[in-house]
Amino acid sequence: MLTFNNPAIRIENLTKTFGDHTVLNNLSFDIPKGKITTILGFSGAGKSTLLKHILGLIQPSSGRITVLDRNLAALKDVELREFRQSFGMLFQYAALFDSLDAIENVAFPLREFTKLSNDEVLSRCRNLLESVGLEPISFHKIPSELSGGMRKRVGLARALSLEPDIMLYDEPTTGLDPITTHMVDNLIRSTSEKHNKREMTSVIISHDVKATLRISDFVAFLDRGNIVEYLPASEFAQSKNELVQEFVNL
Ligand SMILES: Nc1ncnc2c1ncn2[C@@H]1O[C@H](COP(=O)(O)OP(=O)(O)OP(=O)(O)O)[C@@H](O)[C@H]1O
Ligand SMILES: [Mg+2]
Repeated sequence: MLTFNNPAIRIENLTKTFGDHTVLNNLSFDIPKGKITTILGFSGAGKSTLLKHILGLIQPSSGRITVLDRNLAALKDVELREFRQSFGMLFQYAALFDSLDAIENVAFPLREFTKLSNDEVLSRCRNLLESVGLEPISFHKIPSELSGGMRKRVGLARALSLEPDIMLYDEPTTGLDPITTHMVDNLIRSTSEKHNKREMTSVIISHDVKATLRISDFVAFLDRGNIVEYLPASEFAQSKNELVQEFVNL
């Protein structure tokens, strides 16, 4: 199992039970800073539950979670809310505000959480939208006037607006056509590279093995509440774990 010095996220002996159902079972796992780490696993393996622990949205039954050197169990509610601002999130459906245009969607967190002037907000939004490849002609379109791929770009620009230390992608390409999927995968990779200097960490939850191996640095496989394989992406397909082989060859 891979371990890292000074990881972005360290999970130690995490167990979570709902009633008598153990969903995460004594799981230990380091996620390195500044890299792309993907968590793969069959439906029901516990991926989303793991992600919710990392965000401090649910409490472990036992074990310890340290994110950016903070022990989550020690944080008060106010501190937890502030802590969550270190995360950017892109979900399966970009979850944009329907009535706001692209630029105002990206502006939302900046208006909410910073003291930037309107001009500064708008100029930062234009830069962000350009950096994720949205054409200026689309800046004033509302989500229903944008394609699925464009909506992803806007969602990503919004997630990046507060310069998160950790970007979380939960099934970022599920439900997209192959060409848009390819575009979003490339966008995840190029975004990680653009934010490499400040060591932004990317964590992806995915079913898509092929894309995962192409764009990730490290790949973990979660099965029945435990990480059963964790390798550099380039070595993952050669795993000797039978379940991993089954998953890779699906
Ligand atoms: N709040 C909860 N109460 C009870 N059981 C839960 C709760 N949250 C998750 N579970 C159970 O934990 C297991 C893992 O769920 P989880 O959503 O983490 O899986 P997943 O790997 O994200 O699956 P998928 O790929 O389908 O999204 C499931 O059996 C689920 O029913
Ligand atoms: Mg899930």
